[in-house]
Amino acid sequence: MKKSEFTKLMIPGPVEVDPQVLAAMSRPVEPHYGPEWVNKLERVNNLLKQVFQTQNEIFLMAGSGSCAIDASIGSSLQTGEKIIIGNNGFFGDRLVSIAEHNGIEVAEVKQEWGKKLDTQKILNMLKAHPDAKAVAVVHSETSTTVLNPIDEIGLQLKDKNVLFIVDAVSSLGGVPVQVDDWGIDLCASASQKCLGGIPGLAPIAVSSKAWQLIDRTHENKHGWFTDLRVWRKYAQEWGSWHPTPITISSNVVNGLLVALEMLIDEGIEKRMERFRRLALSLRKGLHELELKPFTPDEELNPVLTAAYSPAGVDSGEIVTYLNEAHHIQISGGLGFLKPKIFRVGHMSPVINLKDIQNLLSALKDFQRQTT
Ligand SMILES: Cc1ncc(COP(=O)(O)O)c(C=O)c1O
Repeated sequence: MKKSEFTKLMIPGPVEVDPQVLAAMSRPVEPHYGPEWVNKLERVNNLLKQVFQTQNEIFLMAGSGSCAIDASIGSSLQTGEKIIIGNNGFFGDRLVSIAEHNGIEVAEVKQEWGKKLDTQKILNMLKAHPDAKAVAVVHSETSTTVLNPIDEIGLQLKDKNVLFIVDAVSSLGGVPVQVDDWGIDLCASASQKCLGGIPGLAPIAVSSKAWQLIDRTHENKHGWFTDLRVWRKYAQEWGSWHPTPITISSNVVNGLLVALEMLIDEGIEKRMERFRRLALSLRKGLHELELKPFTPDEELNPVLTAAYSPAGVDSGEIVTYLNEAHHIQISGGLGFLKPKIFRVGHMSPVINLKDIQNLLSALKDFQRQTT
């Protein structure tokens, strides 16, 4: 057997998917239009509504998570307008970059990597920049495992004249995301993380408040593919036949449909509790090995865990050892944390306690080799 066939994938996405998801994707290619297809896409969108906890419109974009984020920011703000971005990690930087590529002015609320965003600082920035049209934050900051308080931020912004944009790429399906209750106007995610699909699809939930801003003018010159008005036009005008503007991969959608059905069958809360127990067990084991988690136990992320590499050890060595000696693939850090921490994704529906135990014994082996 080739090594890649039995490597246990425990990186922070993409995730190992259930064999039933793979089987659904291996069925013959079907057209991305016609009554059966319309029906299928509607089923996917209805399941996504349950996961997003929303009555808002859902669009399933063809692309990765960044596509949905680009669409959120680029469709609702125009060149020269202002956005406030809470930034405490690599993917916060990504939000800034996406906004800047759309010619949008960014007022950044920076927070140290590893620390949660401070809601009050965001509100202060909004006071200082009353002309800002939106506030954007990452929910689960995959580079540090920090979970930002999107519930608190959303509730504070609900009655304000700004949109709330959330990157839920590594949280949707694994951590509660209550789009309606928390007043999230544009919530962007991806198929390849907690939803249990493969890369290629980017669901997005769009509120009526978001549409009001998007529909102010037709002058927005931020491209065609990521213009949400294009996606809405096809959903509305071609909805009974060809609901997306582009050729969406029917095979990848078939896989996501099965993954979503499995999530709903298991129960969203039960699935999340299962992930949380994996996180607790991993943290317990890390403490026993004297490997310090990067964030405090009280701030546990149910789907992602990071820990400091032992003094003098580049985390890349751990990643390589686990991969080569134990066929377990985890990740190092990102940015300046690259050599300092290692990150474990336990957001796959097929990862279980045994996998966590195997990972911990592999880490113990690494320690034995190096001491
Ligand atoms: C929080 C977060 N935002 C955005 C992205 C980018 O998503 P994609 O690689 O699917 O474009 C990622 C990818 O890991 C992520 O974890």
